[in-house]
Amino acid sequence: MSSQEPQSRGILPPVLPPVNRPLPEFVVRDLTLRLGQPGDIDAIVGYYSRNQEYLGRFSAPVNSKWLGREFWGPRVEEMHASFRDDKACNFFMFDDKRRVVGVINLSNAIRGAFHCCTLGYGLDQDLQGRGLMTEALKVAIRYAFEEMNFHRIEANYQPKNLKSENILRKLGFIEEGLAQSYLYINGIWEPHMKTSLTNQNWRPT
Ligand SMILES: CC(C)(COP(=O)(O)OP(=O)(O)OC[C@H]1O[C@@H](n2cnc3c(N)ncnc32)[C@H](O)[C@@H]1OP(=O)(O)O)[C@@H](O)C(=O)NCCC(=O)NCCS
Repeated sequence: MSSQEPQSRGILPPVLPPVNRPLPEFVVRDLTLRLGQPGDIDAIVGYYSRNQEYLGRFSAPVNSKWLGREFWGPRVEEMHASFRDDKACNFFMFDDKRRVVGVINLSNAIRGAFHCCTLGYGLDQDLQGRGLMTEALKVAIRYAFEEMNFHRIEANYQPKNLKSENILRKLGFIEEGLAQSYLYINGIWEPHMKTSLTNQNWRPT
């Protein structure tokens, strides 16, 4: 390009430096929330294998790749890279035997004028109904707002997923409307209720 030709004017987003945030770790009752490590791969595979059928009833089916060890080495590395790049924070929930018993994902981060991420979560079938996910989500949401400084968290659930509806309502998520044919789950385009929570203490950067 000659020096006379116009320069591209901000069509591509600027390349941001990686964030320098310490890896988060929280204890909720007797569970620890943190990113996965290479030594956790058997525990992660164990979680998806034990809960494959259960999780698939309410969210996208467990990908068959998630049941193999070979998938998780690169995926765990990728999760750390996404964390450093401010694109996601993928928590695994560990019990006192270092078994993975749940996940909380803050993903699809978009900054610019949006500062938004998507929340997803799941819990071991054997630990349902004890208020664990509600408590763990409070901690993850506080982290997303106070440390990651998101302005908005979006979470979507199937109308038949009454537990998820109840949790999100208790946490203050506001319903924004029913999206028809939203996710392809078990061969059917399922509608999802779209909800969001906004951060009243968001700080312009
Ligand atoms: C959704 C999920 C994470 C809930 O975990 P959990 O630890 O059992 O949830 P909690 O105990 O914290 O809260 C569940 C709430 O739903 C209520 N609830 C339970 N069964 C219910 C039902 N059939 N109808 C309505 N509410 C119900 C509980 O009473 C509780 O509310 P309360 O604290 O006011 O009593 C878990 O069921 C799960 O992993 N489901 C499969 C994956 C999934 O659905 N992910 C979310 C996709 S949007």
